Amino acid sequence: MRYLTFALAKGRLADKSLQMFNRIGITCREMEDKTSRKLIFTNEELGIRFFLAKAGDVPTYVEYGAADIGIVGKDTILEEGRRLYEVLDLGIGRCRMCVCGPESARELLLHHELIRVATKYPAIAKDYFYNKKHQTVEIIRLGGSIELAPIVGLSEVIVDIVETGSTLRENGLAILEEVCPLSARMVVNQVSMKRENQRITGIIRQMQELVGKQS
Ligand code: PRP
Repeated sequence: MRYLTFALAKGRLADKSLQMFNRIGITCREMEDKTSRKLIFTNEELGIRFFLAKAGDVPTYVEYGAADIGIVGKDTILEEGRRLYEVLDLGIGRCRMCVCGPESARELLLHHELIRVATKYPAIAKDYFYNKKHQTVEIIRLGGSIELAPIVGLSEVIVDIVETGSTLRENGLAILEEVCPLSARMVVNQVSMKRENQRITGIIRQMQELVGKQS
């Protein structure tokens, strides 16, 4: 039996999605040792392997077939724009992609002014402003702590993930517009979907049932 390889985005999503896989009988005891520096974990009996990767790299591993299945946020899928099948919304890691800033910036969005937008997601920001709003903006790519940008005058607004909203509140910022809802998704390599159709559709079906029970 050929190994089915799963790529999981590191962090909270990985723990939650592993719990879901465990519930449908896809387990990997090797992964439970949190002190281990191993990068890839195998369950010989089931013929599966798991590895953890930076979220932004998961769609790359899946597009090239280095992983058959990936679990990653919709934000990363949209930003990376890779060729893969998005097959299931796992209903975990729910949050929103939003345009945020000080209340005073709301007007700039209404009047389609040329503003600066700081973000970790330039492709999503570009698509939103250029294709949906038809507003020309200058997009500034940042690596993190995006909320700093309007506070220190780098940009008028930001495009960023809002989960609880506390980062915004604590920094005097607000949601000005909603770009799209986000959550963790299961993605599948296009060739694997044909070659391992039975095993993969079986997993999708079981996960779908689990998501149904959880919601
Ligand atoms: C994310 C996001 C926001 C924050 C939103 O940042 O970029 O800053 O979480 O969460 P909240 O609405 O619950 O406050 P993350 O912690 O991933 O770090 P980053 O700023 O380095 O991207």
